[in-house]
Amino acid sequence: RKACEDRKFAQEVFHFKKAGSTNQIALELARKGYPEGTLVVAEEQTAGRGRWQRSWHSSPGKSLLFSLILRPKILPVHFPQITLVAGASTARAVHRQTGIRIGIKWPNDLIFQGKKLCGILVEATGEANCLAKFLVLGIGINVNQERDDFPLHLQDTATSLRMIKGEEVPREPLLQGILETLEDDYEEYCRSGFALVRQYWLQYEDILGRKVRLLMGNKEIYGEAVSLAEDGALVLRLPQGEEIRCSAGEVVLCRE
Ligand code: BTN
Repeated sequence: RKACEDRKFAQEVFHFKKAGSTNQIALELARKGYPEGTLVVAEEQTAGRGRWQRSWHSSPGKSLLFSLILRPKILPVHFPQITLVAGASTARAVHRQTGIRIGIKWPNDLIFQGKKLCGILVEATGEANCLAKFLVLGIGINVNQERDDFPLHLQDTATSLRMIKGEEVPREPLLQGILETLEDDYEEYCRSGFALVRQYWLQYEDILGRKVRLLMGNKEIYGEAVSLAEDGALVLRLPQGEEIRCSAGEVVLCRE
Protein backbone atom coordinates (compact mmCIF):
# COMPACT_ATOMS: atom_id res chain seq x y z
CA ARG A 1 0.00 0.00 0.00
CA LYS A 2 1.37 3.40 -0.90
CA ALA A 3 2.08 5.44 2.19
CA CYS A 4 -0.16 8.45 2.03
CA GLU A 5 0.72 11.31 4.30
CA ASP A 6 -2.71 12.23 5.54
CA ARG A 7 -3.50 8.62 6.42
CA LYS A 8 -2.63 7.04 9.74
CA PHE A 9 -3.35 3.37 9.05
CA ALA A 10 -0.69 1.20 7.40
CA GLN A 11 2.05 3.80 7.45
CA GLU A 12 4.08 0.98 8.94
CA VAL A 13 3.42 -2.50 7.54
CA PHE A 14 4.78 -5.90 8.60
CA HIS A 15 4.10 -8.52 5.97
CA PHE A 16 4.62 -12.21 6.70
CA LYS A 17 4.42 -15.19 4.37
CA LYS A 18 3.74 -17.33 7.40
CA ALA A 19 3.03 -16.17 10.93
CA GLY A 20 1.67 -17.66 14.13
CA SER A 21 -1.04 -15.08 14.71
CA THR A 22 -1.02 -11.52 13.37
CA ASN A 23 -2.88 -10.45 16.53
CA GLN A 24 -0.11 -11.90 18.68
CA ILE A 25 2.56 -10.11 16.63
CA ALA A 26 0.64 -6.82 16.73
CA LEU A 27 0.24 -7.11 20.51
CA GLU A 28 4.00 -7.53 20.86
CA LEU A 29 4.67 -4.56 18.57
CA ALA A 30 2.15 -2.45 20.51
CA ARG A 31 3.90 -3.31 23.78
CA LYS A 32 7.16 -2.11 22.20
CA GLY A 33 5.49 1.22 21.44
CA TYR A 34 4.62 0.97 17.75
CA PRO A 35 2.09 3.66 16.81
CA GLU A 36 -1.58 3.53 16.06
CA GLY A 37 -2.26 2.22 12.57
CA THR A 38 0.68 -0.21 12.47
CA LEU A 39 -0.47 -3.09 10.29
CA VAL A 40 0.51 -6.75 10.43
CA VAL A 41 -0.52 -8.91 7.46
CA ALA A 42 0.07 -12.62 6.89
CA GLU A 43 -0.49 -14.90 3.93
CA GLU A 44 -0.88 -17.82 6.30
CA GLN A 45 -1.31 -18.27 10.04
CA THR A 46 -0.27 -21.37 11.94
CA ALA A 47 -1.92 -20.30 15.21
CA GLY A 48 -4.70 -18.00 14.05
CA ARG A 49 -7.02 -17.32 16.91
CA GLY A 50 -10.70 -16.55 17.12
CA ARG A 51 -13.07 -15.41 19.80
CA TRP A 52 -13.81 -17.68 22.77
CA GLN A 53 -10.44 -19.48 22.50
CA ARG A 54 -11.33 -20.90 19.11
CA SER A 55 -8.84 -21.16 16.28
CA TRP A 56 -9.12 -19.39 12.91
CA HIS A 57 -8.51 -21.42 9.79
CA SER A 58 -6.53 -19.85 6.94
CA SER A 59 -5.88 -21.18 3.46
CA PRO A 60 -2.45 -19.88 2.40
CA GLY A 61 -2.74 -17.03 -0.08
CA LYS A 62 -6.53 -17.16 -0.20
CA SER A 63 -7.56 -15.28 2.93
CA LEU A 64 -7.04 -11.77 4.15
CA LEU A 65 -5.48 -11.97 7.60
CA PHE A 66 -4.44 -8.76 9.28
CA SER A 67 -4.21 -6.89 12.56
CA LEU A 68 -4.03 -3.21 13.37
CA ILE A 69 -2.73 -1.47 16.47
CA LEU A 70 -5.21 1.09 17.81
CA ARG A 71 -4.74 3.52 20.65
CA PRO A 72 -8.17 5.06 21.21
CA LYS A 73 -8.68 7.24 24.25
CA ILE A 74 -11.66 5.32 25.55
CA LEU A 75 -12.46 3.30 28.64
CA PRO A 76 -12.37 -0.51 28.35
CA VAL A 77 -16.13 -0.55 28.87
CA HIS A 78 -16.42 0.94 25.38
CA PHE A 79 -14.11 -1.56 23.65
CA PRO A 80 -17.04 -3.60 22.33
CA GLN A 81 -17.95 -0.54 20.27
CA ILE A 82 -14.64 -0.84 18.43
CA THR A 83 -15.60 -4.34 17.35
CA LEU A 84 -18.91 -2.96 16.06
CA VAL A 85 -17.05 -0.21 14.19
CA ALA A 86 -14.83 -2.87 12.62
CA GLY A 87 -17.77 -5.06 11.59
CA ALA A 88 -19.69 -2.16 10.08
CA SER A 89 -16.67 -0.79 8.19
CA THR A 90 -15.67 -4.17 6.83
CA ALA A 91 -19.21 -4.90 5.65
CA ARG A 92 -19.42 -1.50 3.95
CA ALA A 93 -16.02 -1.85 2.33
CA VAL A 94 -16.68 -5.39 1.07
CA HIS A 95 -19.98 -4.19 -0.38
CA ARG A 96 -18.30 -1.25 -2.13
CA GLN A 97 -15.42 -3.29 -3.49
CA THR A 98 -17.21 -6.46 -4.58
CA GLY A 99 -20.90 -5.58 -4.81
CA ILE A 100 -21.60 -8.36 -2.32
CA ARG A 101 -23.88 -7.33 0.50
CA ILE A 102 -22.90 -9.28 3.56
CA GLY A 103 -24.75 -9.15 6.85
CA ILE A 104 -23.51 -8.56 10.38
CA LYS A 105 -24.42 -10.97 13.12
CA TRP A 106 -24.02 -9.15 16.42
CA PRO A 107 -21.50 -8.21 17.49
CA ASN A 108 -19.31 -8.54 14.43
CA ASP A 109 -19.39 -11.81 12.54
CA LEU A 110 -19.91 -11.16 8.86
CA ILE A 111 -22.18 -13.72 7.32
CA PHE A 112 -23.77 -14.50 3.98
CA GLN A 113 -26.88 -16.67 3.92
CA GLY A 114 -26.06 -17.87 7.41
CA LYS A 115 -22.46 -18.86 6.59
CA LYS A 116 -19.43 -17.15 8.06
CA LEU A 117 -17.28 -15.02 5.81
CA CYS A 118 -15.27 -12.93 8.22
CA GLY A 119 -14.34 -12.92 11.88
CA ILE A 120 -13.07 -10.07 14.01
CA LEU A 121 -11.10 -10.36 17.22
CA VAL A 122 -10.25 -7.37 19.37
CA GLU A 123 -7.67 -7.99 22.05
CA ALA A 124 -6.74 -5.43 24.64
CA THR A 125 -4.92 -4.85 27.83
CA GLY A 126 -5.89 -2.45 30.53
CA GLU A 127 -7.79 -2.13 33.73
CA ALA A 128 -11.48 -1.45 33.92
CA ASN A 129 -11.20 2.14 35.10
CA CYS A 130 -8.08 3.29 33.23
CA LEU A 131 -7.69 4.35 29.64
CA ALA A 132 -6.23 1.44 27.69
CA LYS A 133 -2.73 1.77 26.36
CA PHE A 134 -3.66 0.03 23.14
CA LEU A 135 -5.77 -2.58 21.57
CA VAL A 136 -5.33 -4.85 18.59
CA LEU A 137 -8.00 -5.32 15.99
CA GLY A 138 -7.64 -8.56 14.02
CA ILE A 139 -9.69 -9.34 10.94
CA GLY A 140 -9.83 -12.58 8.98
CA ILE A 141 -11.77 -12.72 5.70
CA ASN A 142 -12.34 -15.74 3.51
CA VAL A 143 -11.63 -14.35 0.05
CA ASN A 144 -10.69 -16.96 -2.54
CA GLN A 145 -11.33 -20.29 -0.87
CA GLU A 146 -13.35 -22.97 -2.60
CA ARG A 147 -15.50 -25.24 -0.45
CA ASP A 148 -12.75 -27.92 -0.44
CA ASP A 149 -10.19 -25.48 0.94
CA PHE A 150 -12.03 -25.47 4.26
CA PRO A 151 -11.59 -28.33 6.68
CA LEU A 152 -14.53 -30.75 6.62
CA HIS A 153 -16.07 -29.48 9.84
CA LEU A 154 -16.32 -25.95 8.40
CA GLN A 155 -17.58 -26.79 4.94
CA ASP A 156 -21.25 -26.28 5.77
CA THR A 157 -20.79 -23.20 7.91
CA ALA A 158 -18.07 -21.17 6.16
CA THR A 159 -18.13 -19.33 2.87
CA SER A 160 -15.81 -17.08 0.85
CA LEU A 161 -16.24 -14.10 -1.47
CA ARG A 162 -15.19 -16.31 -4.36
CA MET A 163 -17.84 -18.90 -3.55
CA ILE A 164 -20.48 -16.16 -3.40
CA LYS A 165 -19.37 -14.32 -6.51
CA GLY A 166 -18.32 -17.26 -8.61
CA GLU A 167 -15.03 -15.64 -9.54
CA GLU A 168 -11.70 -14.76 -7.98
CA VAL A 169 -11.59 -11.54 -5.94
CA PRO A 170 -8.29 -9.59 -5.91
CA ARG A 171 -7.16 -9.27 -2.31
CA GLU A 172 -4.95 -6.18 -2.45
CA PRO A 173 -7.62 -3.62 -3.49
CA LEU A 174 -10.01 -5.22 -1.03
CA LEU A 175 -7.52 -4.76 1.81
CA GLN A 176 -6.93 -1.15 0.80
CA GLY A 177 -10.64 -0.44 0.64
CA ILE A 178 -11.20 -1.97 4.07
CA LEU A 179 -8.31 -0.02 5.61
CA GLU A 180 -9.59 3.26 4.21
CA THR A 181 -13.18 2.73 5.32
CA LEU A 182 -12.01 1.48 8.69
CA GLU A 183 -9.80 4.50 9.20
CA ASP A 184 -12.59 6.94 8.26
CA ASP A 185 -15.09 5.23 10.57
CA TYR A 186 -12.61 4.88 13.41
CA GLU A 187 -11.70 8.58 13.18
CA GLU A 188 -15.39 9.46 13.16
CA TYR A 189 -15.93 7.25 16.22
CA CYS A 190 -13.02 8.82 18.11
CA ARG A 191 -14.16 12.34 17.17
CA SER A 192 -17.90 12.14 17.68
CA GLY A 193 -18.79 8.86 19.34
CA PHE A 194 -20.76 5.84 18.28
CA ALA A 195 -23.91 7.38 16.74
CA LEU A 196 -22.98 7.50 13.03
CA VAL A 197 -21.16 4.18 13.02
CA ARG A 198 -24.20 2.69 14.76
CA GLN A 199 -26.25 3.78 11.74
CA TYR A 200 -23.78 2.02 9.41
CA TRP A 201 -24.00 -1.08 11.58
CA LEU A 202 -27.78 -0.97 11.36
CA GLN A 203 -27.63 -0.76 7.55
CA TYR A 204 -25.85 -4.11 7.40
CA GLU A 205 -27.18 -5.96 10.43
CA ASP A 206 -28.69 -9.37 9.83
CA ILE A 207 -30.00 -10.22 13.25
CA LEU A 208 -32.75 -7.86 14.40
CA GLY A 209 -36.18 -9.44 14.38
CA ARG A 210 -34.70 -12.94 14.58
CA LYS A 211 -34.93 -15.56 17.27
CA VAL A 212 -31.52 -16.21 18.76
CA ARG A 213 -29.71 -18.05 21.49
CA LEU A 214 -27.09 -15.97 23.23
CA LEU A 215 -24.28 -17.95 24.81
CA MET A 216 -22.25 -16.40 27.61
CA GLY A 217 -19.82 -18.87 29.13
CA ASN A 218 -22.09 -21.70 30.27
CA LYS A 219 -25.16 -19.47 30.44
CA GLU A 220 -27.62 -19.42 27.57
CA ILE A 221 -30.46 -17.00 26.92
CA TYR A 222 -33.17 -17.47 24.32
CA GLY A 223 -35.06 -14.52 22.91
CA GLU A 224 -35.75 -12.25 19.96
CA ALA A 225 -33.11 -9.70 18.97
CA VAL A 226 -35.11 -6.48 18.95
CA SER A 227 -32.65 -3.61 18.73
CA LEU A 228 -29.13 -2.29 19.08
CA ALA A 229 -28.91 0.02 22.10
CA GLU A 230 -27.32 3.46 21.71
CA ASP A 231 -24.10 2.11 23.26
CA GLY A 232 -23.93 -1.02 21.08
CA ALA A 233 -25.51 -3.54 23.44
CA LEU A 234 -27.91 -6.04 21.90
CA VAL A 235 -31.46 -5.84 23.26
CA LEU A 236 -33.18 -9.22 23.55
CA ARG A 237 -36.89 -9.77 24.22
CA LEU A 238 -37.32 -12.85 26.38
CA PRO A 239 -40.26 -15.23 25.80
CA GLN A 240 -42.10 -13.65 28.78
CA GLY A 241 -41.82 -10.23 27.11
CA GLU A 242 -39.14 -8.74 29.32
CA GLU A 243 -36.33 -6.91 27.45
CA ILE A 244 -32.72 -7.25 28.53
CA ARG A 245 -29.47 -5.70 27.32
CA CYS A 246 -26.52 -7.94 26.45
CA SER A 247 -23.08 -6.47 26.07
CA ALA A 248 -21.13 -9.67 25.39
CA GLY A 249 -21.77 -13.15 24.14
CA GLU A 250 -22.00 -15.37 21.12
CA VAL A 251 -25.18 -15.37 19.08
CA VAL A 252 -26.60 -18.47 17.45
CA LEU A 253 -29.38 -17.75 14.98
CA CYS A 254 -32.35 -20.08 15.45
CA ARG A 255 -34.22 -21.53 12.50
CA GLU A 256 -37.61 -19.85 12.29
C1 BTN B 1 -13.74 -15.02 15.29
O1 BTN B 1 -14.70 -14.95 14.53
O2 BTN B 1 -13.72 -15.87 16.19
C2 BTN B 1 -12.61 -14.03 15.13
C3 BTN B 1 -11.59 -14.51 14.16
C4 BTN B 1 -10.47 -13.51 13.96
C5 BTN B 1 -9.39 -14.03 13.03
C6 BTN B 1 -8.36 -13.00 12.69
S1 BTN B 1 -7.30 -13.53 11.40
C7 BTN B 1 -6.20 -12.19 11.67
C8 BTN B 1 -6.13 -12.01 13.17
N1 BTN B 1 -5.08 -12.83 13.75
C9 BTN B 1 -5.59 -13.79 14.55
O3 BTN B 1 -4.91 -14.66 15.15
N2 BTN B 1 -6.92 -13.70 14.59
C10 BTN B 1 -7.42 -12.58 13.80
